[in-house]
Amino acid sequence: MKELFANRVLANDTSDLDEIFKNSANPENISFAGGFPDIRRFPDADLKQAYQTAIDQQGPAIFQYSATEGPQNLRQKLADRMASHAGVTATADNIMLTQGGQQAIDLVAKLLLNHGDAMVVEGPTYMGALAAFDTYEPTYYEVPVDQNGMNIRALRKTLQAHPEIKLIYTIPDFHNPTGTTLSAKRRQAMVSLANQYDVIILEDSPYRDLRYSGKSVPAIKHYDTEGRVVFISSFSKILSPALRTGWIVADQPIMAELIGLKSAIDVQSPNVTLQAINSYLDQHDIDAHIATINAAYRLKRDAMLAALDRYFPKNITYTRPAGGFFIWVTLPSDIDAKQLLETQVLPQAHVAYVPAACQFASRTVKNGFRLNFTSLDPVTITAGIKRLGVLLQANQAVAPVVPLKTAIQF
Ligand SMILES: Cc1ncc(COP(=O)(O)O)c(C=O)c1O
Repeated sequence: MKELFANRVLANDTSDLDEIFKNSANPENISFAGGFPDIRRFPDADLKQAYQTAIDQQGPAIFQYSATEGPQNLRQKLADRMASHAGVTATADNIMLTQGGQQAIDLVAKLLLNHGDAMVVEGPTYMGALAAFDTYEPTYYEVPVDQNGMNIRALRKTLQAHPEIKLIYTIPDFHNPTGTTLSAKRRQAMVSLANQYDVIILEDSPYRDLRYSGKSVPAIKHYDTEGRVVFISSFSKILSPALRTGWIVADQPIMAELIGLKSAIDVQSPNVTLQAINSYLDQHDIDAHIATINAAYRLKRDAMLAALDRYFPKNITYTRPAGGFFIWVTLPSDIDAKQLLETQVLPQAHVAYVPAACQFASRTVKNGFRLNFTSLDPVTITAGIKRLGVLLQANQAVAPVVPLKTAIQF
């Protein structure tokens, strides 16, 4: 029957990932694979109250069809937040609510990408974005990431060599999967390049508010002078992913088209949830809530970094993120992290991570993996990294001596 499936489905092979997440569900394993928030940080009682208040205040009207872009009062709150937290000037008309950041990525891809169209992604990048883009069958150009985010010199070269590129997809704040943040200078340079080469930038920033050290940098959209940056974010990491609520900030004519595309897909996001989020924001100080999350996540990040420093072999490098959910580990160039996971890490150390290959559009880089530090408690984090470190040390003892030449290095 598969021969009946469209090419876009066949191009999209998620079997590796399904396997990883299936294995990490085993309670015997310590899984650093999923990009999950800490379940203990969900404000469930406050959210319950917010749903109740929204329903009580609005009566049956809350259950009616409503505007595709979402309620005006919530869009206005998000416009205000974009100004205060990201340095972005926007009105409520520049905002649309979506079913998570994931739908926002899909909508922008649907707006821009014909089969074979050229786009830039970071190498590595968010695998969920690759899954969304894959269905539009683009031609990917991969630009490496270093400790200051996407390498702008490499981006310039790529745009020079491929002037047909239409879209740059970037995760500038606490990048998934490396945890790195794009410097302000690079943000400005990226916008200049987009202006010069007539490219749209998709700025995907769900981790922006989760900063544990250092100073905030304005959004890339802050530097946008031509309405070519589309900013997306989400309540998934700061409130709860089950709300399935994200938002897009875009100028005209992009916003009008995105509203039309969303209307054709799902008419609107669930109004009850959007009104409940609006009530939550009326009744609670979300920044105070974020501050409590950040304090907890800072401890987890520090626990993971301390364990990595203590238990990992010295020729294995890793990022030291100032926020977000992830640390990226770079192995010696001859080690295939997926093979290591399947043959040793899962069966012997009972630890899971996300190996490099599925996080690269090219699928060619194998010597790295992503670790999540937000979902587990510090004691479990330390125990899991110790198990992994002991295995890697033993592996090194028997591994052939090879020159330390890493495919990617931070
Ligand atoms: C970089 C990035 N973008 C978008 C998303 C999608 O999140 P959601 O659809 O839950 O808002 C995620 C989730 O992990 C992510 O890491």
